[in-house]
Amino acid sequence: MQPIHIGLIGLGTVGTGVAQILQEKAELIAARLGARLVLKRVAVRSLERPRGVPLAGVQLTTEVASLLHDPDIAIIVELIGGYEPARTYVLDALRQGKHVVTANKALLARHGPEIFETARALRRDLGFEASVGGGIPIIRTIKEGFVANQFLGMACIINGTTNYILSRMSDQGLTFQEALKEAQALGYAEADPTYDVEGIDAAQKIALLSSLAFGAWVPQEAVYTEGITRITPLDIGYARELGYRIKLLALANLRQGRLDVRVHPALVPARSWLANVGGVYNAIVIHGDMVGRNMLIGRGAGALPTGSAVVGDIVDVARNILNNSTGRVPPQAYHTPEARSLPLQDIGELVCKYYLRFQVLDQPGVLAAIAGILGQHAISIESVIQKGRGSAKDDTVSVVMMTHEAQEGNLRHALAAIAAVPSVRGETVCIRVEETEEAEAQ
Ligand code: NDP
Ligand code: HSE
Repeated sequence: MQPIHIGLIGLGTVGTGVAQILQEKAELIAARLGARLVLKRVAVRSLERPRGVPLAGVQLTTEVASLLHDPDIAIIVELIGGYEPARTYVLDALRQGKHVVTANKALLARHGPEIFETARALRRDLGFEASVGGGIPIIRTIKEGFVANQFLGMACIINGTTNYILSRMSDQGLTFQEALKEAQALGYAEADPTYDVEGIDAAQKIALLSSLAFGAWVPQEAVYTEGITRITPLDIGYARELGYRIKLLALANLRQGRLDVRVHPALVPARSWLANVGGVYNAIVIHGDMVGRNMLIGRGAGALPTGSAVVGDIVDVARNILNNSTGRVPPQAYHTPEARSLPLQDIGELVCKYYLRFQVLDQPGVLAAIAGILGQHAISIESVIQKGRGSAKDDTVSVVMMTHEAQEGNLRHALAAIAAVPSVRGETVCIRVEETEEAEAQ
Protein backbone atom coordinates (compact mmCIF):
# COMPACT_ATOMS: atom_id res chain seq x y z
CA MET A 1 0.00 0.00 0.00
CA GLN A 2 1.32 3.47 -0.90
CA PRO A 3 2.86 5.38 2.05
CA ILE A 4 2.14 9.08 2.65
CA HIS A 5 4.82 10.60 4.88
CA ILE A 6 4.09 13.12 7.60
CA GLY A 7 6.35 15.55 9.47
CA LEU A 8 5.07 16.70 12.87
CA ILE A 9 6.32 19.86 14.58
CA GLY A 10 5.41 19.77 18.29
CA LEU A 11 4.84 16.76 20.54
CA GLY A 12 2.98 18.23 23.51
CA THR A 13 -0.65 17.56 24.47
CA VAL A 14 -2.07 17.54 20.92
CA GLY A 15 1.06 16.25 19.14
CA THR A 16 1.14 13.23 21.46
CA GLY A 17 -2.57 12.61 20.77
CA VAL A 18 -1.91 12.71 17.02
CA ALA A 19 1.07 10.31 17.28
CA GLN A 20 -1.02 7.93 19.40
CA ILE A 21 -3.97 7.95 16.98
CA LEU A 22 -1.71 7.45 13.93
CA GLN A 23 -0.29 4.34 15.59
CA GLU A 24 -3.41 2.88 17.21
CA LYS A 25 -5.66 3.53 14.21
CA ALA A 26 -3.14 2.74 11.46
CA GLU A 27 -5.08 -0.26 10.11
CA LEU A 28 -8.48 1.41 10.27
CA ILE A 29 -7.19 4.54 8.52
CA ALA A 30 -5.36 2.53 5.84
CA ALA A 31 -8.56 0.59 5.13
CA ARG A 32 -10.53 3.84 4.78
CA LEU A 33 -7.88 5.81 2.90
CA GLY A 34 -6.35 3.15 0.66
CA ALA A 35 -2.85 4.33 1.66
CA ARG A 36 -0.64 4.17 4.74
CA LEU A 37 0.04 7.28 6.81
CA VAL A 38 3.64 7.19 8.05
CA LEU A 39 4.89 9.55 10.76
CA LYS A 40 8.48 9.99 9.54
CA ARG A 41 9.97 12.88 11.54
CA VAL A 42 8.92 14.79 14.67
CA ALA A 43 10.50 18.11 15.71
CA VAL A 44 10.52 19.24 19.34
CA ARG A 45 12.49 21.70 21.51
CA SER A 46 13.95 19.17 23.93
CA LEU A 47 15.12 15.65 23.06
CA GLU A 48 15.42 14.77 26.75
CA ARG A 49 11.80 15.35 27.76
CA PRO A 50 9.95 12.02 28.20
CA ARG A 51 7.15 11.49 25.66
CA GLY A 52 4.05 9.53 26.64
CA VAL A 53 3.90 7.73 23.31
CA PRO A 54 6.11 5.07 21.65
CA LEU A 55 8.14 6.51 18.76
CA ALA A 56 9.71 3.39 17.20
CA GLY A 57 10.84 4.16 13.63
CA VAL A 58 10.20 7.91 14.04
CA GLN A 59 13.14 10.36 13.78
CA LEU A 60 12.94 12.79 16.73
CA THR A 61 14.85 16.01 16.07
CA THR A 62 15.21 19.63 17.11
CA GLU A 63 15.89 20.64 13.47
CA VAL A 64 12.57 21.75 11.98
CA ALA A 65 14.34 22.38 8.66
CA SER A 66 15.02 18.66 8.34
CA LEU A 67 11.25 18.12 8.07
CA LEU A 68 10.60 21.02 5.73
CA HIS A 69 13.35 19.90 3.32
CA ASP A 70 12.62 16.16 3.41
CA PRO A 71 11.39 15.33 -0.12
CA ASP A 72 9.48 12.25 1.16
CA ILE A 73 7.29 14.32 3.48
CA ALA A 74 4.06 15.48 1.84
CA ILE A 75 2.23 16.85 4.89
CA ILE A 76 3.59 19.06 7.68
CA VAL A 77 1.55 19.19 10.89
CA GLU A 78 2.23 22.30 13.02
CA LEU A 79 1.36 21.80 16.70
CA ILE A 80 3.70 24.16 18.55
CA GLY A 81 1.22 27.04 18.97
CA GLY A 82 1.87 30.80 19.13
CA TYR A 83 2.78 33.26 16.39
CA GLU A 84 6.51 32.81 15.70
CA PRO A 85 8.23 30.60 14.66
CA ALA A 86 4.91 28.86 13.80
CA ARG A 87 4.13 31.43 11.04
CA THR A 88 7.54 31.03 9.43
CA TYR A 89 7.36 27.21 9.56
CA VAL A 90 3.86 27.11 8.02
CA LEU A 91 4.76 29.54 5.20
CA ASP A 92 8.09 27.77 4.53
CA ALA A 93 6.33 24.40 4.42
CA LEU A 94 3.80 25.68 1.86
CA ARG A 95 6.61 27.20 -0.24
CA GLN A 96 8.46 23.88 -0.09
CA GLY A 97 5.39 22.31 -1.71
CA LYS A 98 4.08 20.65 1.46
CA HIS A 99 0.44 20.58 2.52
CA VAL A 100 -0.13 21.87 6.05
CA VAL A 101 -2.37 20.89 8.95
CA THR A 102 -2.49 23.07 12.07
CA ALA A 103 -4.53 23.51 15.26
CA ASN A 104 -3.17 27.01 15.80
CA LYS A 105 -6.08 29.46 16.01
CA ALA A 106 -3.88 32.25 17.39
CA LEU A 107 -1.71 32.05 14.28
CA LEU A 108 -4.64 31.98 11.85
CA ALA A 109 -6.59 34.74 13.61
CA ARG A 110 -3.56 37.05 13.27
CA HIS A 111 -1.92 35.90 10.03
CA GLY A 112 -4.86 34.16 8.32
CA PRO A 113 -4.99 36.34 5.16
CA GLU A 114 -1.27 35.82 4.45
CA ILE A 115 -1.36 32.07 5.14
CA PHE A 116 -4.66 31.41 3.34
CA GLU A 117 -3.52 33.38 0.30
CA THR A 118 -0.16 31.57 0.17
CA ALA A 119 -1.91 28.17 0.32
CA ARG A 120 -4.48 29.22 -2.30
CA ALA A 121 -1.89 30.67 -4.70
CA LEU A 122 0.35 27.59 -4.42
CA ARG A 123 -2.64 25.19 -4.57
CA ARG A 124 -1.58 23.51 -1.34
CA ASP A 125 -4.12 22.17 1.13
CA LEU A 126 -4.36 23.82 4.54
CA GLY A 127 -6.34 21.94 7.19
CA PHE A 128 -7.25 23.69 10.45
CA GLU A 129 -10.28 21.77 11.74
CA ALA A 130 -8.73 21.38 15.22
CA SER A 131 -8.27 25.13 15.62
CA VAL A 132 -11.93 25.60 16.71
CA GLY A 133 -14.02 23.31 18.89
CA GLY A 134 -11.43 20.53 19.50
CA GLY A 135 -12.91 17.36 18.00
CA ILE A 136 -16.07 19.01 16.57
CA PRO A 137 -16.05 19.19 12.74
CA ILE A 138 -17.32 22.80 12.59
CA ILE A 139 -14.89 24.09 9.93
CA ARG A 140 -15.86 21.31 7.51
CA THR A 141 -19.54 21.88 8.34
CA ILE A 142 -19.33 25.57 7.43
CA LYS A 143 -17.16 25.08 4.34
CA GLU A 144 -18.80 21.96 2.93
CA GLY A 145 -21.89 20.53 4.65
CA PHE A 146 -23.74 23.87 4.90
CA VAL A 147 -22.23 25.43 1.74
CA ALA A 148 -25.70 26.17 0.32
CA ASN A 149 -26.64 28.41 3.26
CA GLN A 150 -26.40 32.09 3.97
CA PHE A 151 -25.42 32.06 7.62
CA LEU A 152 -27.50 34.25 9.92
CA GLY A 153 -25.86 33.74 13.29
CA MET A 154 -23.83 31.60 15.66
CA ALA A 155 -23.88 31.23 19.45
CA CYS A 156 -20.96 29.20 20.70
CA ILE A 157 -19.18 27.82 23.72
CA ILE A 158 -15.74 27.46 22.13
CA ASN A 159 -13.30 27.51 25.01
CA GLY A 160 -13.05 24.25 26.93
CA THR A 161 -10.98 25.68 29.78
CA THR A 162 -13.48 28.38 30.76
CA ASN A 163 -16.48 26.10 30.34
CA TYR A 164 -14.72 23.59 32.58
CA ILE A 165 -13.94 26.29 35.17
CA LEU A 166 -17.50 27.70 35.22
CA SER A 167 -18.98 24.19 35.45
CA ARG A 168 -16.70 23.17 38.35
CA MET A 169 -17.41 26.47 40.18
CA SER A 170 -21.13 26.11 39.61
CA ASP A 171 -21.63 22.37 40.22
CA GLN A 172 -18.88 21.45 42.71
CA GLY A 173 -18.29 24.80 44.40
CA LEU A 174 -14.58 24.97 43.44
CA THR A 175 -12.80 28.32 43.47
CA PHE A 176 -11.71 29.84 40.17
CA GLN A 177 -8.04 29.04 40.88
CA GLU A 178 -8.74 25.41 41.86
CA ALA A 179 -10.76 24.82 38.69
CA LEU A 180 -8.12 26.50 36.50
CA LYS A 181 -5.39 24.28 37.97
CA GLU A 182 -7.45 21.19 37.09
CA ALA A 183 -7.99 22.41 33.52
CA GLN A 184 -4.25 22.98 33.14
CA ALA A 185 -3.42 19.52 34.51
CA LEU A 186 -5.85 17.97 32.02
CA GLY A 187 -4.03 19.70 29.11
CA TYR A 188 -6.98 21.96 28.17
CA ALA A 189 -5.44 25.38 28.78
CA GLU A 190 -3.20 27.36 26.45
CA ALA A 191 0.51 27.74 27.30
CA ASP A 192 -0.50 31.16 28.68
CA PRO A 193 -3.91 30.53 30.34
CA THR A 194 -4.66 34.26 30.22
CA TYR A 195 -5.67 33.57 26.61
CA ASP A 196 -8.40 31.25 27.91
CA VAL A 197 -9.69 33.11 30.96
CA GLU A 198 -9.63 36.58 29.36
CA GLY A 199 -11.65 35.37 26.37
CA ILE A 200 -8.82 35.87 23.85
CA ASP A 201 -8.78 32.23 22.67
CA ALA A 202 -12.56 32.34 22.11
CA ALA A 203 -12.20 35.69 20.27
CA GLN A 204 -9.58 34.16 17.95
CA LYS A 205 -11.93 31.26 17.25
CA ILE A 206 -15.09 33.33 16.62
CA ALA A 207 -13.07 35.69 14.37
CA LEU A 208 -12.03 32.66 12.34
CA LEU A 209 -15.52 31.12 12.23
CA SER A 210 -17.06 34.47 11.25
CA SER A 211 -14.55 34.93 8.45
CA LEU A 212 -15.41 31.49 7.06
CA ALA A 213 -19.16 31.82 7.50
CA PHE A 214 -19.63 35.41 6.31
CA GLY A 215 -16.83 35.62 3.72
CA ALA A 216 -15.20 38.82 4.99
CA TRP A 217 -12.03 38.83 7.07
CA VAL A 218 -12.85 39.63 10.72
CA PRO A 219 -9.73 40.68 12.64
CA GLN A 220 -9.55 39.34 16.19
CA GLU A 221 -8.95 42.88 17.49
CA ALA A 222 -12.41 43.86 16.18
CA VAL A 223 -14.13 41.29 18.39
CA TYR A 224 -15.44 42.83 21.63
CA THR A 225 -13.88 40.58 24.31
CA GLU A 226 -14.48 40.03 28.04
CA GLY A 227 -13.29 37.01 30.00
CA ILE A 228 -14.55 35.21 33.10
CA THR A 229 -12.11 36.46 35.75
CA ARG A 230 -14.74 38.67 37.40
CA ILE A 231 -17.41 35.96 37.63
CA THR A 232 -17.99 35.08 41.29
CA PRO A 233 -19.81 32.20 43.01
CA LEU A 234 -22.27 34.84 44.27
CA ASP A 235 -23.35 35.76 40.73
CA ILE A 236 -23.42 32.11 39.62
CA GLY A 237 -25.81 31.49 42.55
CA TYR A 238 -28.10 34.49 41.85
CA ALA A 239 -28.21 33.59 38.14
CA ARG A 240 -29.32 30.08 39.08
CA GLU A 241 -32.06 31.50 41.36
CA LEU A 242 -33.32 33.56 38.43
CA GLY A 243 -33.43 30.51 36.11
CA TYR A 244 -30.17 31.06 34.21
CA ARG A 245 -26.63 29.64 33.90
CA ILE A 246 -23.51 31.74 33.29
CA LYS A 247 -21.50 30.72 30.21
CA LEU A 248 -18.66 32.32 28.25
CA LEU A 249 -20.31 32.83 24.87
CA ALA A 250 -18.82 33.69 21.50
CA LEU A 251 -21.49 35.24 19.31
CA ALA A 252 -21.66 36.33 15.68
CA ASN A 253 -24.87 37.66 14.18
CA LEU A 254 -25.57 39.23 10.81
CA ARG A 255 -28.25 41.90 11.10
CA GLN A 256 -29.19 44.33 8.32
CA GLY A 257 -25.82 43.89 6.61
CA ARG A 258 -23.82 44.46 9.80
CA LEU A 259 -21.91 41.92 11.83
CA ASP A 260 -22.21 41.80 15.62
CA VAL A 261 -19.25 39.71 16.91
CA ARG A 262 -18.44 39.46 20.60
CA VAL A 263 -17.13 37.24 23.40
CA HIS A 264 -18.30 37.70 26.99
CA PRO A 265 -19.91 35.87 29.89
CA ALA A 266 -23.68 35.76 29.58
CA LEU A 267 -26.74 34.53 31.44
CA VAL A 268 -28.44 31.91 29.28
CA PRO A 269 -31.84 30.42 30.13
CA ALA A 270 -31.36 27.20 32.14
CA ARG A 271 -33.62 25.27 29.74
CA SER A 272 -31.60 26.22 26.62
CA TRP A 273 -29.23 23.85 24.80
CA LEU A 274 -26.15 25.93 25.62
CA ALA A 275 -26.89 26.14 29.36
CA ASN A 276 -26.61 22.37 29.54
CA VAL A 277 -23.20 22.05 27.88
CA GLY A 278 -20.84 21.37 30.79
CA GLY A 279 -17.20 20.60 31.54
CA VAL A 280 -14.74 20.63 28.65
CA TYR A 281 -17.56 20.25 26.13
CA ASN A 282 -17.95 22.92 23.44
CA ALA A 283 -21.08 23.61 21.44
CA ILE A 284 -21.82 25.66 18.37
CA VAL A 285 -25.38 26.64 17.52
CA ILE A 286 -25.25 27.72 13.89
CA HIS A 287 -28.17 29.15 11.95
CA GLY A 288 -28.31 28.76 8.18
CA ASP A 289 -31.18 30.19 6.14
CA MET A 290 -31.95 26.83 4.50
CA VAL A 291 -30.97 24.29 7.16
CA GLY A 292 -32.27 26.24 10.17
CA ARG A 293 -30.63 26.05 13.59
CA ASN A 294 -28.21 23.19 14.35
CA MET A 295 -26.09 22.45 17.37
CA LEU A 296 -22.76 20.62 17.17
CA ILE A 297 -21.43 19.46 20.51
CA GLY A 298 -18.30 17.59 21.60
CA ARG A 299 -15.08 17.79 23.60
CA GLY A 300 -13.46 21.13 22.85
CA ALA A 301 -9.93 20.38 24.07
CA GLY A 302 -7.64 17.55 25.14
CA ALA A 303 -5.16 15.25 23.40
CA LEU A 304 -7.41 12.69 21.73
CA PRO A 305 -10.47 14.79 20.70
CA THR A 306 -8.16 17.43 19.20
CA GLY A 307 -5.88 14.73 17.76
CA SER A 308 -8.94 13.18 16.12
CA ALA A 309 -9.65 16.45 14.27
CA VAL A 310 -5.98 16.81 13.23
CA VAL A 311 -5.88 13.25 11.86
CA GLY A 312 -9.20 13.91 10.07
CA ASP A 313 -7.49 16.79 8.27
CA ILE A 314 -4.42 14.65 7.47
CA VAL A 315 -6.66 12.00 5.88
CA ASP A 316 -8.55 14.69 3.94
CA VAL A 317 -5.28 16.07 2.55
CA ALA A 318 -4.05 12.54 1.77
CA ARG A 319 -7.26 11.79 -0.15
CA ASN A 320 -6.75 14.94 -2.22
CA ILE A 321 -3.13 13.92 -2.91
CA LEU A 322 -4.23 10.45 -4.04
CA ASN A 323 -6.90 11.95 -6.31
CA ASN A 324 -4.80 14.82 -7.67
CA SER A 325 -7.40 17.21 -6.32
CA THR A 326 -5.42 19.44 -3.95
CA GLY A 327 -6.81 22.94 -3.47
CA ARG A 328 -10.35 21.55 -4.06
CA VAL A 329 -11.89 23.45 -1.12
CA PRO A 330 -10.62 27.04 -0.76
CA PRO A 331 -8.95 27.52 2.65
CA GLN A 332 -11.08 30.55 3.52
CA ALA A 333 -14.31 28.94 2.25
CA TYR A 334 -14.88 31.57 -0.48
CA HIS A 335 -12.98 31.77 -3.79
CA THR A 336 -13.06 35.56 -3.53
CA PRO A 337 -13.15 36.37 0.21
CA GLU A 338 -11.55 39.76 -0.31
CA ALA A 339 -14.56 40.82 -2.41
CA ARG A 340 -16.79 41.16 0.66
CA SER A 341 -16.52 43.65 3.42
CA LEU A 342 -18.92 43.77 6.33
CA PRO A 343 -19.23 46.69 8.74
CA LEU A 344 -19.07 45.62 12.39
CA GLN A 345 -21.52 46.72 15.07
CA ASP A 346 -20.11 48.70 18.00
CA ILE A 347 -20.76 47.18 21.45
CA GLY A 348 -22.42 50.45 22.55
CA GLU A 349 -25.23 49.77 20.04
CA LEU A 350 -26.01 46.33 21.45
CA VAL A 351 -29.57 45.93 22.75
CA CYS A 352 -30.19 43.16 25.29
CA LYS A 353 -31.32 42.52 28.85
CA TYR A 354 -28.80 42.90 31.67
CA TYR A 355 -28.16 41.29 35.04
CA LEU A 356 -26.88 43.94 37.48
CA ARG A 357 -25.60 43.40 41.02
CA PHE A 358 -25.06 46.48 43.18
CA GLN A 359 -23.34 46.28 46.53
CA VAL A 360 -24.98 49.02 48.65
CA LEU A 361 -25.29 50.26 52.21
CA ASP A 362 -28.67 49.13 53.55
CA GLN A 363 -30.10 52.67 53.87
CA PRO A 364 -33.46 54.20 52.93
CA GLY A 365 -33.57 55.68 49.42
CA VAL A 366 -30.70 53.68 47.84
CA LEU A 367 -32.97 51.59 45.66
CA ALA A 368 -34.91 54.69 44.57
CA ALA A 369 -31.66 56.49 43.66
CA ILE A 370 -30.47 53.58 41.48
CA ALA A 371 -33.87 53.09 39.84
CA GLY A 372 -34.09 56.84 39.18
CA ILE A 373 -30.74 56.95 37.37
CA LEU A 374 -31.61 53.88 35.31
CA GLY A 375 -34.94 55.51 34.39
CA GLN A 376 -33.20 58.72 33.31
CA HIS A 377 -31.19 56.62 30.84
CA ALA A 378 -34.25 54.84 29.38
CA ILE A 379 -33.54 51.58 31.21
CA SER A 380 -36.52 49.89 32.81
CA ILE A 381 -36.30 47.23 35.49
CA GLU A 382 -37.89 43.82 35.06
CA SER A 383 -37.26 42.44 38.55
CA VAL A 384 -35.32 43.20 41.75
CA ILE A 385 -34.00 40.89 44.46
CA GLN A 386 -32.59 42.39 47.63
CA LYS A 387 -30.62 40.04 49.85
CA GLY A 388 -30.17 40.37 53.63
CA ARG A 389 -26.81 41.18 55.20
CA GLY A 390 -25.91 37.51 55.73
CA SER A 391 -23.33 36.95 52.98
CA ALA A 392 -21.35 40.21 52.82
CA LYS A 393 -18.25 40.65 55.00
CA ASP A 394 -18.91 44.40 55.41
CA ASP A 395 -22.20 46.18 56.19
CA THR A 396 -23.40 46.15 52.56
CA VAL A 397 -26.17 44.15 50.94
CA SER A 398 -26.55 42.84 47.40
CA VAL A 399 -29.23 44.29 45.18
CA VAL A 400 -29.75 42.24 42.02
CA MET A 401 -31.73 43.70 39.11
CA MET A 402 -32.77 42.27 35.79
CA THR A 403 -33.46 44.99 33.24
CA HIS A 404 -35.74 44.91 30.24
CA GLU A 405 -33.96 45.28 26.89
CA ALA A 406 -31.74 48.35 26.93
CA GLN A 407 -29.02 49.87 24.79
CA GLU A 408 -25.51 49.19 26.11
CA GLY A 409 -24.34 52.78 25.53
CA ASN A 410 -27.16 54.05 27.79
CA LEU A 411 -26.41 51.41 30.41
CA ARG A 412 -22.73 52.37 30.58
CA HIS A 413 -23.64 56.03 31.18
CA ALA A 414 -26.14 54.98 33.86
CA LEU A 415 -23.60 52.75 35.65
CA ALA A 416 -21.06 55.60 35.67
CA ALA A 417 -23.64 57.86 37.34
CA ILE A 418 -24.66 55.13 39.83
CA ALA A 419 -20.99 54.61 40.83
CA ALA A 420 -21.04 58.21 42.15
CA VAL A 421 -23.97 57.54 44.53
CA PRO A 422 -22.37 57.57 48.05
CA SER A 423 -24.19 54.48 49.36
CA VAL A 424 -23.17 52.34 46.36
CA ARG A 425 -19.95 50.47 47.23
CA GLY A 426 -17.51 48.67 44.95
CA GLU A 427 -17.86 47.99 41.26
CA THR A 428 -21.29 47.03 39.97
CA VAL A 429 -21.42 43.60 38.32
CA CYS A 430 -23.02 43.75 34.87
CA ILE A 431 -23.59 40.59 32.82
CA ARG A 432 -25.48 40.48 29.53
CA VAL A 433 -28.50 38.19 29.25
CA GLU A 434 -28.44 36.34 25.95
CA GLU A 435 -31.92 35.49 24.77
CA THR A 436 -31.41 35.51 21.01
CA GLU A 437 -32.88 32.60 19.03
CA GLU A 438 -29.47 30.93 18.80
CA ALA A 439 -28.67 31.15 22.53
CA GLU A 440 -32.22 30.18 23.50
CA ALA A 441 -32.41 27.16 21.19
CA GLN A 442 -33.84 24.21 23.14
P1 NDP B 1 1.96 22.05 24.24
O1 NDP B 1 2.55 23.21 24.92
O2 NDP B 1 1.47 20.91 25.06
O3 NDP B 1 3.03 21.44 23.20
C1 NDP B 1 3.81 22.25 22.38
C2 NDP B 1 4.85 21.37 21.70
O4 NDP B 1 5.55 22.16 20.73
C3 NDP B 1 5.91 20.80 22.64
O5 NDP B 1 6.18 19.45 22.28
C4 NDP B 1 7.17 21.65 22.36
O6 NDP B 1 8.38 20.94 22.46
C5 NDP B 1 6.96 21.99 20.91
N1 NDP B 1 7.60 23.25 20.51
C6 NDP B 1 7.37 24.49 20.98
N2 NDP B 1 8.11 25.39 20.33
C7 NDP B 1 8.84 24.69 19.43
C8 NDP B 1 9.81 25.04 18.46
N3 NDP B 1 10.17 26.31 18.29
N4 NDP B 1 10.36 24.06 17.70
C9 NDP B 1 10.00 22.77 17.86
N5 NDP B 1 9.05 22.37 18.76
C10 NDP B 1 8.50 23.33 19.54
O7 NDP B 1 0.79 22.61 23.31
P2 NDP B 1 -0.58 21.92 22.90
O8 NDP B 1 -0.31 20.57 22.34
O9 NDP B 1 -1.55 22.05 23.99
O10 NDP B 1 -1.09 22.91 21.74
C11 NDP B 1 -0.54 22.85 20.44
C12 NDP B 1 -1.43 23.69 19.51
O11 NDP B 1 -2.73 23.12 19.48
C13 NDP B 1 -1.63 25.13 19.93
O12 NDP B 1 -1.75 25.93 18.78
C14 NDP B 1 -2.97 25.10 20.67
O13 NDP B 1 -3.62 26.34 20.66
C15 NDP B 1 -3.70 24.10 19.84
N6 NDP B 1 -4.81 23.41 20.49
C16 NDP B 1 -4.63 22.84 21.72
C17 NDP B 1 -5.64 22.12 22.30
C18 NDP B 1 -5.48 21.44 23.62
O14 NDP B 1 -6.44 20.82 24.10
N7 NDP B 1 -4.33 21.52 24.26
C19 NDP B 1 -6.95 21.97 21.63
C20 NDP B 1 -7.04 22.62 20.34
C21 NDP B 1 -5.99 23.32 19.80
P3 NDP B 1 8.90 20.35 23.86
O15 NDP B 1 7.92 19.25 24.20
O16 NDP B 1 10.25 19.80 23.56
O17 NDP B 1 8.87 21.47 24.84
N1 HSE C 1 -7.25 26.22 25.38
C1 HSE C 1 -8.24 25.83 24.45
C2 HSE C 1 -9.55 25.59 25.18
C3 HSE C 1 -7.81 24.59 23.73
O1 HSE C 1 -9.54 25.47 26.40
O2 HSE C 1 -10.59 25.54 24.52
C4 HSE C 1 -8.73 24.22 22.59
O3 HSE C 1 -8.63 25.11 21.54
